[in-house]
Amino acid sequence: MKKSMNHRAFALATGLCTIAATTMGCRDANSVPVASHEPNYLFSKAMEIKEEVELNESLFQTKDLLTEWFGTPDNPKIPELLKDGDYADLFSEENLKLAAGTATNPGLYASQQCVSCHGPTGQGRGPVAASQDPYPRDFRAGIFKFKGTPLAAKPRKEDIARVLKQGLSGTQMPIFDKLSDQQISALVDYVVFLSIRGDVERRLLRNASSNDGKLDEIKDAAEEALTQIADRWVAAEDSFEEFPDPEIPLVGAVASDDAALAQSIEKGKELFRTTNCAQCHGLEANGIGTKPPDYDNWTKEWTVDINIAPTNVDELVPLMALGGMKPQIIKPRNIVEGHLRGGRSPMDIYRRIRYGIPGGPMPAAAIVQSRDEQGLLEEDLWHLVNYVLSIARVPPPPVSAQPDGQTEGQKVAQSTP
Ligand code: HEC
Ligand code: HEC
Repeated sequence: MKKSMNHRAFALATGLCTIAATTMGCRDANSVPVASHEPNYLFSKAMEIKEEVELNESLFQTKDLLTEWFGTPDNPKIPELLKDGDYADLFSEENLKLAAGTATNPGLYASQQCVSCHGPTGQGRGPVAASQDPYPRDFRAGIFKFKGTPLAAKPRKEDIARVLKQGLSGTQMPIFDKLSDQQISALVDYVVFLSIRGDVERRLLRNASSNDGKLDEIKDAAEEALTQIADRWVAAEDSFEEFPDPEIPLVGAVASDDAALAQSIEKGKELFRTTNCAQCHGLEANGIGTKPPDYDNWTKEWTVDINIAPTNVDELVPLMALGGMKPQIIKPRNIVEGHLRGGRSPMDIYRRIRYGIPGGPMPAAAIVQSRDEQGLLEEDLWHLVNYVLSIARVPPPPVSAQPDGQTEGQKVAQSTP
C-alpha cells in the first residue's frame, strides 16, 4: 500500500515538473539547446526551508547576473574576470562554441547526447536521466569523483578527459572513443564552464540565505565567489601527486615474486576485513556490508539536511517538482564484479583508496606512520590494491557512444583549422 502511494507521489512530482517546464523551465531539457539556463530552484528551495527565508528575488537576481557573465546555452560567454591571467587555460571561446553550438546548429554537448543525460545546464537531469542508477552527474555541485587529485580538490581537465575516453564502468556513462582530441577538449572545457557557473549560483544562494534572503552587494559577492571557485580549478592542475612504485610486487606485473605476491594479497584481504572496508563492502567484498545505506552530498542537501528522510517520498514531492530526483542510495561497490570506475591500474586503485571518492560515503584512508597508531601504513594501501585486483573480474567495457553518421558537432570540428 505504502509503496504504491510512493509511486503515485513520484509520478505526480514528475507530472508537476512537466507542467512547470512552460512556466519556469523545470524540464526544459526536451528542447535542445534551450534559450536560457534553468535557475537552481531545488537548491534555492532547500536553503529557504533550512534558513526560513524567502529567496525568490535573489534567485532571479542571480540568474540575471549569471546570464550577463556566462551567456546562454546557445551563446556561452567567458566572464570578463576569467578572460586572462591565471584563468586563461580554464576554457577557450572556440571550445565553448564547439561544445555549445548555436540555436540552429547544436554543438557537441547536444550532438553527443551529453545533454540527454546531464541536461542543458549540467544539472544532471536530462530527459533520460530518471531511469538511471547512478544518476548522471550534476556538474553544478562542483564535485567530480574519479580523478587524480586529493579528495577535496577539483579534478584536472585531464581527469575529465579520461572519464570521456574510458567511460564509467557499470553506469550509463559511455565511452567517447570516436572523438578527436580537440572535440574532447571542447567538451571538457564546457563541463568546467557549466560546473563553475552552477557552483557560483549555489554559493550566491547560500550566501543570500544566511543574509536574510538578501543578495547585498551582489556583484562583489559574486565576483569573490567566481574567482575563489576558478582558483580551485586552476590549483587542481598542480595538485596531482606522484607516488613512487612500492617495493611490494603488484598484481599484473611482468616478472614478479609469486610467493611474495600471494602473501601481499592475503595481507590485503585481512586488512580489508579488519579495517572499515568490510563494514561497507562486506566481508566478501560483494558490496553487502553492515553499514546502513547512505546518500550523496547533493541529495542530502534537500533531504536529511532539511530534516526530511530521503525515503519519505510523499514529503519530498514539492521538492521533486522543483527538480529533485527520487533519492538513490550510493551503494558500496561490489568489488568482485570489477566495475572500477576510476581505472584499473594499481596506481588508480591506490589513489581511490588513499583519497576516497568525493561526494559520497567512500572515505579517504587514514594513513599512519607506525603500527601503534590506528589507520593504514603506506604499504598497507598496496596490499589492499593487490587484494582488490586479485578478486576484481574484468567486465566488458562501457558501451561506445557513436551517434549515427557524422554529427553537426563533428562537422563544425572538422571545418575548424
Ligand atoms: C546515457 C547517459 C550519459 C551520457 C550520454 C553521458 N553521460 Fe556523463 N555520466 C553519466 C552517468 C550515469 C554518470 C555518473 C556515473 C557515476 O556516478 O559513477 C556520468 C558522469 C559524468 C561525469 C563525472 C565524472 C566524475 O569523475 O565524477 C562527467 C564529467 C561526464 N559524465 C561528462 C559527460 C559528457 C561531457 C558527455 C557527452 C560527451 C556525457 N557525460 C554523456 C551518464 C551519461
Ligand atoms: C563508509 C563506507 C565505505 C568504506 C568504509 C569504504 N568504502 Fe569503498 N566504496 C564505498 C562506496 C559507497 C563506493 C562507491 C562510490 C561511488 O561510486 O560513488 C566505494 C567504492 C570503492 C571502490 C571502487 C573504486 C572505483 O574506481 O570505482 C573500491 C576499490 C573501494 N571502494 C575500496 C575500498 C577499500 C579498500 C576500503 C577500505 C580501506 C573501502 N573501500 C572503504 C563505500 C565505502
